[in-house]
Amino acid sequence: MASGEGIALVDRDEQGVDRAFRADVLEGLRQPQKAIPARWLYDDAGSQLFEDITQVEEYYPTRAETEILRTRGGEFADAIGPGRAVVEFGSGSSVKTPLLLEAIEPAAYVPLDIAGDFLRAAAEDLSAKFPGLPVHPVEADFMREVALPDAAAATPKLGFFPGSTIGNMVPRTAVDLLRTMRATLGAGSMLLIGMDLIKDPAVLEAAYDDAAGVTAEFNLNLARRINRELGGTIPVDKLRHIARWNDDFARIEMHLEAQTDMRFEVAGESFALAKGETIHTENSHKFSRRSSNALLLAGEWTPVKRWKDAEGRFSLILAEATIARSAP
Ligand code: AVI
Repeated sequence: MASGEGIALVDRDEQGVDRAFRADVLEGLRQPQKAIPARWLYDDAGSQLFEDITQVEEYYPTRAETEILRTRGGEFADAIGPGRAVVEFGSGSSVKTPLLLEAIEPAAYVPLDIAGDFLRAAAEDLSAKFPGLPVHPVEADFMREVALPDAAAATPKLGFFPGSTIGNMVPRTAVDLLRTMRATLGAGSMLLIGMDLIKDPAVLEAAYDDAAGVTAEFNLNLARRINRELGGTIPVDKLRHIARWNDDFARIEMHLEAQTDMRFEVAGESFALAKGETIHTENSHKFSRRSSNALLLAGEWTPVKRWKDAEGRFSLILAEATIARSAP
C-alpha cells in the first residue's frame, strides 16, 4: 500500500503539519475509546514496514492471494475476457498486477493513487514489463469518484482491488467505496476484489502479531509519527502492540495498550491513558462467503465467481456492476 503523502493532495499549515492528520489524531484521542484512523499508519516508514509484514511467515494474505493469481490465470481469462482496461485502486504491487495483466489480455492499465511518486514508479515498472500496453496513471483519491482518462473511456473496465484493503474499512465506508468504484468504472464494468476469510482466531492473531515483531513496529510507528509530526510526547516505550480477534464484528483489531498510567501532549493538547487502556489503530475485517456477497451487493456489485487459495485462507471475487432494478 502506498502512503498518503502525495504532494499536491496534502493540505499543510504554515509549519508544514498535515492538517487532516492533526485533526484526526486530536479528535480520536478525545474519545472515551481512543481511536485513530488506520490510514495514518502509512507514512514512508509505515509503508516500508507494511512491505516487510508481507514477507513474514505468519502473514499469509499476500502469499495466498498471489498463489491464486499465479495458478488461476486461465480461469480469469475465461471469466473476464480480453480487451478490458484494468483500473487498479492503489498503485500496483510489483508481483500481483503483472500476474493479472499476463492472464487476461487487457486493452490498457490505469493505476489510481493519491501518492504521485508511488504511482509513477508503478506505472514505469508496468510499462517496462508490458511494452505494448497503454498505461495511463491517474493521481487521485479513489475514495471519491474519479474521471478516467479519455483514452480509456470507450473501453469496458475491470476494477482491481487486491490485498483485502476493503477489510480495513468499517462496513459503511466499505459500501461507500464500492459504490464510488461502481460510479468511477461505469455500466458494464467488472471488479476483481481480494477479501480475506474468517478462520481460526489463533492463526489470525499470529498474522497480526508476528514473532519477529514487525507488525508491532508498524503499529508503534504511528505513535512515533505523532510525536515527530505533531509535537507529541507519547512515551512510546510504555505502549504495547495488541492484535485481538473481535468475533462480533469478525475483525482483527490492532491497539496500542498503555503499560502504565501516562500523560502526554499532542499539538499542545493534554491527554491521559490509564494502565491497560488502549488506542485503537486498525480494523481488519474477515469475511465469509455470505458476508462478502452481502457487502458487494450493498455496494451495487453482483458477485459472479470466486477463487480461494489451496488452503482456503483468502478469496478473490469477481463481480459485475449491478444493473438497477426496482424489484424484487
Ligand atoms: C493493508 N491491509 C490489507 C493490511 C491488513 O491485513 O489488514 C494491513 C495490515 N495491518 C497489519 N498487518 C497488515
